[in-house]
Amino acid sequence: MTEEFATFFRGYSQYVDQADQLAFWQLSDRIIEETLRRNLPNDLPAGACVLDAGGGTGRWIVKLAKHLPCRFLLYDRSDDMLKKAALNVEAAHLRSRVELRQGNLTDMSDIENQSIDHAISIYNVLSFIDDPSSALRELFRVLKPAGTIQIMAQGLYNGLCSKIVNYQASSDELLSIDTNHTIKWAEHVPTLRLFSKETLEGLLSSAGFSIVATHGVPVFVQPGLEDFDPPNAQRSRISEALARDARFFNQVLRLELEYSALPTVANRGMNLLSVARKP
Ligand SMILES: C[S@@+](CC[C@H](N)C(=O)[O-])C[C@H]1O[C@@H](n2cnc3c(N)ncnc32)[C@H](O)[C@@H]1O
Repeated sequence: MTEEFATFFRGYSQYVDQADQLAFWQLSDRIIEETLRRNLPNDLPAGACVLDAGGGTGRWIVKLAKHLPCRFLLYDRSDDMLKKAALNVEAAHLRSRVELRQGNLTDMSDIENQSIDHAISIYNVLSFIDDPSSALRELFRVLKPAGTIQIMAQGLYNGLCSKIVNYQASSDELLSIDTNHTIKWAEHVPTLRLFSKETLEGLLSSAGFSIVATHGVPVFVQPGLEDFDPPNAQRSRISEALARDARFFNQVLRLELEYSALPTVANRGMNLLSVARKP
C-alpha cells in the first residue's frame, strides 16, 4: 500500500459517511441503492454471504442489512476505512452478521473458491487498483455459480467532459487521459483508472462473467465542484436545487433509473455500475 493511498483514505474515512448531507450525493446513493436492491434476490437465506469488495466504512452493508437477512463480508485494504466500519457495524447492531477483513482484492487467497453468494463493489474501488483484471478474476473465483457482481468504476467520457468543461485542462493533460485512461483530480487524490461501458464489460467478460447490464451513475445530473469539498461545507447549485424541491428530486431520480442502463446513455455516467453473473 502506498503512502499516498493510506493518507488519502485516512482523510476520506472521516467524512465519507456524511457526504449524503449533500443532495447530489443523496441522489447518487439512491440510484445505487435502488439498482443494488433490484439485482439482489430479496429471498436470500440467512446463511448466504454477500461480499462487499472495497466496502470501506460499511455504509452499503448497513443499508442492505435492513432488507436482507444474510451475512456480509466486508473486504478492504485501508486500516482507517476498516476502523470506521467497525464503529458503524457496532452502532447498527450488526456484529453477528458482518465480518470485516483486511486484504487486497487482487489476492483474496484467504477466501475459498465458490464461497460467496453475491458481490458488490461501490464507488469505484476498481479505479484505485493497478491491475483490475486480477481483482475481477479473484471476484469470479470466490463467487458461487449463478452469483452476481455489481461493480462500479469511474467513467472515461464523463471524466474527459469534466476536465474540459470544469477545469479547462491543458491539451497535454487531455491527451494523457485519452491515451492512458487514468485521471488525477487533485494533488492529494491517487491517480484513478477510467473505464467506458465497453472496457468495463470487456474486463468482466474476460474474467468469465456474463454481462447483465451497465448503468451510468448518474447520467443526467452532473455534480458541481462544491460537491467534492471534503468537509461537505459548500453547496453546489444542483445540490441546492435538489434539496429545495422534493418533486424535482424525485423526477430526476425517476429519469435516472429509467434511462441509466440504455446502451446509448450509460457512457454519460460520472461512474459506471456493471451488473454481471457467474455462469
Ligand atoms: C472510494 S472508497 C469506496 C468505499 C465504499 N465502497 C463506499 O462506497 O463507501 C474505495 C475503497 O476501496 C478500497 N480499496 C482500494 N483499493 C483496494 C484494494 N486493492 N483492495 C481492497 N480494497 C481496496 C479503499 O480502501 C476504499 O475503502
